[in-house]
Amino acid sequence: MKPRANGIDYDALVETDRVHSRVYTDPAIFADEIAKIFHRGWVFVGHGSEVPNPGDFRLKRIGAMPVIMVRDHAGKIQLLLNRCRHRGATVCQDERGTARSFRCAYHGWTYKLDGALAGVPYPEAYDESFRREELGLVHVPRIAEYRGFIFGSLSAVGIQLDEHLGCAREQIDLFVEMSPEGEIDLSPGAQKYNFAGNWKLQIENGMDGYHPPVVHQSIVEALEKRLGRKLETYTGQSRAMTRDLGGGHVMLDYRQCQGNRSLNMTTTYNGPPSNSFQAEFVDAIRRRYGERRGAEILQASGTHLLVFPNLIILGVQLRVINPLSVAGTEVTVYPALLRGVSDAINQLRLRGHEAFFGSGGMGSPDDTEMFERMQIGFAADVEPWVYLGRGMRTERRDDDRTTAGHIMDEITQRAIWRHWKKLMAGEGGAAKRSRSARGAYRRAAGIEAQRAEPPT
Ligand code: FES
Ligand SMILES: [Fe+2]
Repeated sequence: MKPRANGIDYDALVETDRVHSRVYTDPAIFADEIAKIFHRGWVFVGHGSEVPNPGDFRLKRIGAMPVIMVRDHAGKIQLLLNRCRHRGATVCQDERGTARSFRCAYHGWTYKLDGALAGVPYPEAYDESFRREELGLVHVPRIAEYRGFIFGSLSAVGIQLDEHLGCAREQIDLFVEMSPEGEIDLSPGAQKYNFAGNWKLQIENGMDGYHPPVVHQSIVEALEKRLGRKLETYTGQSRAMTRDLGGGHVMLDYRQCQGNRSLNMTTTYNGPPSNSFQAEFVDAIRRRYGERRGAEILQASGTHLLVFPNLIILGVQLRVINPLSVAGTEVTVYPALLRGVSDAINQLRLRGHEAFFGSGGMGSPDDTEMFERMQIGFAADVEPWVYLGRGMRTERRDDDRTTAGHIMDEITQRAIWRHWKKLMAGEGGAAKRSRSARGAYRRAAGIEAQRAEPPT
């Protein structure tokens, strides 16, 4: 049977080696993917280091829903929907800050940091049917954490976070263990930008090893000049790989590359790190993790990973993709510092981050330009197919769990689309929600059945 959902034949739109450009341009498909991907499965929301102390909060989104990530007075991280239970206004407008409570500016309903309704002005006009304990801010039904990464799911039922992350967990470990304390720090803040294109263009591009020597020719040449040698990455002999980890998670795997050791390559955009930095870093990692694990960590030098659907961990940064409309996307980029290394090493990471990914950087702005050109090009859909067949015949099962190929192959794009189709056609474990699941949603969210419908 064809995977048809909401009248859309997803099987006809996504083939093994090509996709119809309607998947980037159709508002009905966009609405369907917000419902089936972002409002059901696990979505990355933020990192614990963004809210280190009670009262610290950040505004976030899960799909279309505004969310407050806040550390409550007990030290627990809460994900609260940013919607007053009186008449629906957002109760928090600041992107980040520290609060003792959240007070809605419209009629003054005030909520505690754990979401409970603390009080309302002129309460005497309400009768006994007004049950304050049922009128707290709604909690995102499921919240889970992996090594400081906070994920939320708007579905009360579905697979556990560990199962969702699968093989991606090992890559997150490698990224986090670049810190001798096993912790990253996002406290420096973030930069945000929007582009006039579909959100999937960014996740495909983040895991695209074919484009760098073309789109980023200038920085590749500058880097080669500074290093005094050719980069082997973009040659036929390259040992860098594209890898499908399953579950929509994919990566560019540089672990076998010469020179990808110790401080991440990204830091070298401003010139190679000095020998003393290298030695200091290598020593700290070996002391903390031992010779064997230390060697793995240094060889990986972080990761280059997509955690489906909205988190890219790339060199020295986290990149979060928020879909706003079918042709509008917001990207938030967080440079990640390492706990337990010198300020000088963290400065090196920051400067490397700015050189490539900053708004005046030599890398990201070029990618963004390509997304907008693609979105314009998609309008010419007399011939609507987008071709993703590169490396089809040389894909290989690399170990028990993953499929790999040359760094310039389109394994990663094909894997993203395979998983996307599975979710969109309603075959994924979390993609179907039964009546009992709706009930569970209401209970978990603290919503009375007669008063609210779950997100669909
Ligand atoms: S809408 Fe929030 S207090 Fe009225
Ligand atoms: Fe790029």
